[in-house]
Formats: sequence, C-alpha cells, structure tokens
Amino acid sequence: MDMLELIKSRRSIRAFEQERPSRAVIQECLEAAIWAPNPTNQQPWEFIVLAGEKLAKVNACIEQQFFERMQGSGYDDLPEVCEKRKDEIMETISKAAEQEGINPGQFFEKMLRFFDAPVAVLFLHYARDEDSYKYGTAAALQNFLLAAHARGLGSCWLGIVTICQEDIKALLEIPDDKTLLGGVAVGIPVKDSTLNTFERPRVPANELTTWYGL
Ligand SMILES: Cc1cc2nc3c(=O)[nH]c(=O)nc-3n(C[C@H](O)[C@H](O)[C@H](O)COP(=O)(O)O)c2cc1C
Repeated sequence: MDMLELIKSRRSIRAFEQERPSRAVIQECLEAAIWAPNPTNQQPWEFIVLAGEKLAKVNACIEQQFFERMQGSGYDDLPEVCEKRKDEIMETISKAAEQEGINPGQFFEKMLRFFDAPVAVLFLHYARDEDSYKYGTAAALQNFLLAAHARGLGSCWLGIVTICQEDIKALLEIPDDKTLLGGVAVGIPVKDSTLNTFERPRVPANELTTWYGL
C-alpha cells in the first residue's frame, strides 16, 4: 500500500479479536518505532509488551486505581474549537458503543482494560522537565501504530492509562527515572464493529495552512 494511503487509512481500533498477535509481528512494529526522529539520537525510549497474566494484572491495577487518581485531572480550558471537536467525537463514540450494546460506563471500563486487546505496549522515556523526550517517543509510538496497521493489526493509543502511571510503575518495577508516555492496545480488529468503523472527520489541511512563496 502507498504510504499516504496507509497513513490515511489507520484508525484507532476499540474492538479486538481475542487471537493474540505473534511476538514476531510486535517485534517488527517496535523495529519501526526505533527509527523515529528523536532528540540528537539519544533514543530516550523503552517499551514494555504485555499479554496474558501480566496484562490482566496491569488492567486490574488500572481499574482499581483509576477513579481515585482521576480526581483533579482532566481537560480544563480547551480552546473552544477543540472542545467542540472533542464533544462531537465523544458523542459519535458513545453512539457506536451503544450500537454494539455497550453502555457508556461499560465502554469506559473497557478503555481502562486496553479495550480487552490481547496485547498492550507501554511507551516510556527517561523522565525530563522539558518535552523533547516526549516528542521523540510520541514519534516512535506513531511509527509503531503505522507498522501495526501495515501488518493488518489494529491499535489504539491510550493516554488515559498514564493517570495510573505510579501504580503501573510500582507493579512492573519500572524505575523512577522513567515516565510513561502512553499505552497502546494491539490486536486483530473486529471487522464490522461500529466501534472500529465510525467516521473520524478531519479539518482539511488547506484550511489549517498558511502558504508563503509556494
Ligand atoms: C495523546 C493521545 C492520547 C489518546 N488517548 C486515548 C484514550 O485514552 N482513549 C481512547 O479511546 N483514545 C485515545 N486516543 C485516540 C484518539 O481518540 C484518536 O486518535 C482520535 O479520536 C482520532 O481518531 P483516529 O486515531 O481513529 O484517527 C489518544 C490519542 C492520542 C494522540
């Protein structure tokens, strides 16, 4: 598939088959991750792949700790235009879940369990006050998502799990000098689930671009 087509056809996947992808294919996606641009090639990232019992333990930890950790965190002061787009997509996702017989509470619980995906990958980086390690690791994560899509796997970037990062770090004995950038749910997409197929509109690039000299 052409690269542009690949990029444009990737979607966040939120309904997964239980069949577990092989270690080899996850390894290939991580090989794509490490070729991301990153600050002065310091490669500040690290990855943790979770499946089976260990993933179940992490899921249980997140479900247990999330609501306490959530106090005080949230989206405050979003730019008006972004708030509107967020509300629109949240409504669309809720309707899609409803069509699959999942109520909003159940949907949220599934999100805290990596949408019941058979594999989850954590993206970490060395902790720093400034953001460059975060940018590099985010670029690695995007490479991973695209490689997964190219291999027929579905994925969803889950920022929400970082709210429980201290709990996850304690459970997995991750040292304090590491920060969790995000988790990714990975697996084979349920083909016709509305949770995977709903529209995700984009503002056209030409409405967001100022051109000079070209
Ligand atoms: C930093 C970041 C955090 C995200 N966290 C979540 C999340 O916690 N839960 C979720 O369902 N999707 C999450 N997403 C996925 C976005 O909701 C998704 O990318 C967006 O709605 C656009 O849809 P698309 O990826 O299918 O194009 C996150 C994406 C990013 C980049």
